[in-house]
Amino acid sequence: SDDHTVRLTVNGEERRLSVAPSTPLLYVLRNDLSLNGPKFGCGLGECGACMVLVDGRAARACVLPTKAVAGLTVTTLEGLADGNHLDPVQQAFIDEQAAQCGYCLNGMIMTVRSLLNENPTPTHEQLVAALDHNLCRCGTHVEILAAACRAAG
Ligand code: FES
Repeated sequence: SDDHTVRLTVNGEERRLSVAPSTPLLYVLRNDLSLNGPKFGCGLGECGACMVLVDGRAARACVLPTKAVAGLTVTTLEGLADGNHLDPVQQAFIDEQAAQCGYCLNGMIMTVRSLLNENPTPTHEQLVAALDHNLCRCGTHVEILAAACRAAG
């Protein structure tokens, strides 16, 4: 029925999705749109692996009902690069070799992008605070913070 149609923009493309409105956005992105940048970690809004941008702000897609983003603009990791150019945050994470297993990196990168969208010149403390609720089980926070600082210039 029409109740199950949700319109939104994903990585610049208008989408009309037929889903139960309470379906978490993460499932729609990964299963229906084959966008696997956002990861399933905890499924409870706690780890940050599933982070996307909604109208430029970081949001945890595992706990975001799809209906909550109706009419809004969603950007996933796949949508960050501009043509052949990586987003400066992506480039900084590569330059700092910030990945170990890499599972958390989507969330780290999207969180830093969100912060920089709001505040292009964050302090070190603001970067630390922004990343405080993104979990990394490998313990690569030092490299991740270095990448975040590099991205912030
Ligand atoms: Fe969404 Fe952990 S998978 S916060």
